[in-house]
Amino acid sequence: MLANVSSAERMASHQMQRFQFVVVGGGIAGVTCVEQLASDFPSAEVGLITAASHIKAVANFKQVSQTLEEFDVEERPPSVLQEKYPNVTVFQSAVRSLQADQHTLQTEDGRSVGYEKLCICSGARPKLLTQDQPYVLGVRDTDSVQEFQKRLSSAKRIVVVGNGGIALELVFEVRGCEVVWAVKDKAIGNTFFDAGAAQFLIPSLEAQRPPRDAVCKRARYTTEQGPEGNSDGGPEGGLHTFTAGGDRRRPGSGSTGAGSALGPDWHEGFLLRGAEQTPQGVRVEYECEVQEIFTPSDPLRPQPEADYGAWPVYVRLTNGRTVGCDFIVSATGVVPNTDAFLQGNNFSLAEDGGLRVDDHMMTSERDVYAAGDVCSACWEPSALWQQMRLWTQARQMGWFAGRCMAADVLTQPIELDFCFELFAHITKFFNYKVVILGKFNAQGLGADHELLVRCTKGQEYVKVVLRGGKMVGAVLVGETDLEETFENLILNQMDLTPYKDELLNPNIDIEDYFD
Ligand SMILES: Cc1cc2nc3c(=O)[nH]c(=O)nc-3n(C[C@H](O)[C@H](O)[C@H](O)COP(=O)(O)OP(=O)(O)OC[C@H]3O[C@@H](n4cnc5c(N)ncnc54)[C@H](O)[C@@H]3O)c2cc1C
Ligand SMILES: *[C@@H]1O[C@H](CO)[C@@H](O)[C@H](O)[C@H]1NC(C)=O
Ligand SMILES: *[C@@H]1O[C@H](CO)[C@@H](O)[C@H](O)[C@H]1NC(C)=O
Repeated sequence: MLANVSSAERMASHQMQRFQFVVVGGGIAGVTCVEQLASDFPSAEVGLITAASHIKAVANFKQVSQTLEEFDVEERPPSVLQEKYPNVTVFQSAVRSLQADQHTLQTEDGRSVGYEKLCICSGARPKLLTQDQPYVLGVRDTDSVQEFQKRLSSAKRIVVVGNGGIALELVFEVRGCEVVWAVKDKAIGNTFFDAGAAQFLIPSLEAQRPPRDAVCKRARYTTEQGPEGNSDGGPEGGLHTFTAGGDRRRPGSGSTGAGSALGPDWHEGFLLRGAEQTPQGVRVEYECEVQEIFTPSDPLRPQPEADYGAWPVYVRLTNGRTVGCDFIVSATGVVPNTDAFLQGNNFSLAEDGGLRVDDHMMTSERDVYAAGDVCSACWEPSALWQQMRLWTQARQMGWFAGRCMAADVLTQPIELDFCFELFAHITKFFNYKVVILGKFNAQGLGADHELLVRCTKGQEYVKVVLRGGKMVGAVLVGETDLEETFENLILNQMDLTPYKDELLNPNIDIEDYFD
């Protein structure tokens, strides 16, 4: 049933505007969801409400193998969406509140919007170590990277806290500034790797690594401009291209307001350079967390073990060390953006703070779906899949949520999509191609698994996780060319016990072996 709204009503902002479908959030999840709905129901009114001035769209999508996908992410003016889909209306404003029982929501700029089906795709924000600490920075969107870059330019030492993908990339990219990297695990990169892969990557952090070429990193905008875009490629308007996956393009930089989360390559196009002229190393402090942060003038600072004064801020780590630095980068994970939606409603939340969704991407509130970083997948997952807040999953969930909303309107049944069968991700860390598949870190397997590893220093690192003789996960670092074969072996759950010794033998062409 379509809302019948006259244009006069439409102009009056104090009156309710009604849409069959409303999507909140112009990141990858929200935009993919809108595109799916608009192509399934060209005559339906679809509203997209987003806080950011630009939307993010998937471009050049490429299915690399059955489950691995690569695509570019482009930051575009919202008009692009409305031109392509005339029945889509984009509002640039944040949602302030939601009345799920009445199927209405309000925006910060005073609009009231009604929906039949709603999809919340408001993403997540970085979890900060402390609130209101001027010396603590989170890295999330283009603006925060610019702030980071600015402060780094006069910094001699920074402390990076966190052990996920963002911390990994950041630590690797910084030049001319000493980095002290506090990780809570026994190895770096624990979210993606194990100790072996970490060991393989450690040499990449040494001070002798080649300097980054500043000039050619600086991206130019592609020529497509939005109505408010300026032609010199300045920070407003224009098209930014990022690449999800191994094959990288140069992204631009620019202001995105209350922006979408950055994706792969967020640091490219930004020169991350500190104040020192000479190469500086990275010192990793393992198995520790931040106990407290204090400034030299802080009356509550611990009794001096050194002379507090050389640095603007100090970090006391749980391993007993105190480190002085110019500022601290907090990269300790994300918090789903649910605040605007909770009051007065009855959403069930997962432990990580996300909106719980079932295998139809449906939340606990009627006619409200969620996708991307804001949601927590709470269906019974396939034995080889887990949620990770990544670009690929934001796209898959947004797309599937759109299909589920459509199926519900048409009262058609719909099954969980194949993309949720096997976890698969391609990325780049420390300039190595990285493919991770399935239970790559033996997640949830306890002692019930076996690892096979092959490593050639500076070239490749291959790890296979076997359970009961069957492959359930893999980590491939470098140009291994094994991803498709391993994906097949994981998907078909062939018993590999007879081949265990040959599986990683570099002299055997494993592809021929199984094809
Ligand atoms: C520094 C960094 C590096 C990353 N690197 C990688 C990587 O290498 N590979 C990878 O796969 N992933 C990476 N990620 C993760 C990836 O960016 C996210 O998983 C993905 O962008 C999530 O998409 P989303 O659409 O769910 O949310 P987002 O992209 O965060 O979009 C959320 C949207 O909702 C809007 N919004 C929020 N609140 C409201 C509100 N109340 N009202 C209206 N609109 C609202 C925002 O303006 C935004 O448009 C990285 C993230 C960061 C921060
Ligand atoms: C937009 O919707 C109207 C009906 O609401 C329909 O007639 C029109 O064809 C739709 N536009 C497109 C491009 O499909
Ligand atoms: C909220 O949800 C819980 C369980 O899902 C239910 O018991 C309760 O009645 C709900 N409250 C309202 C106000 O809908």
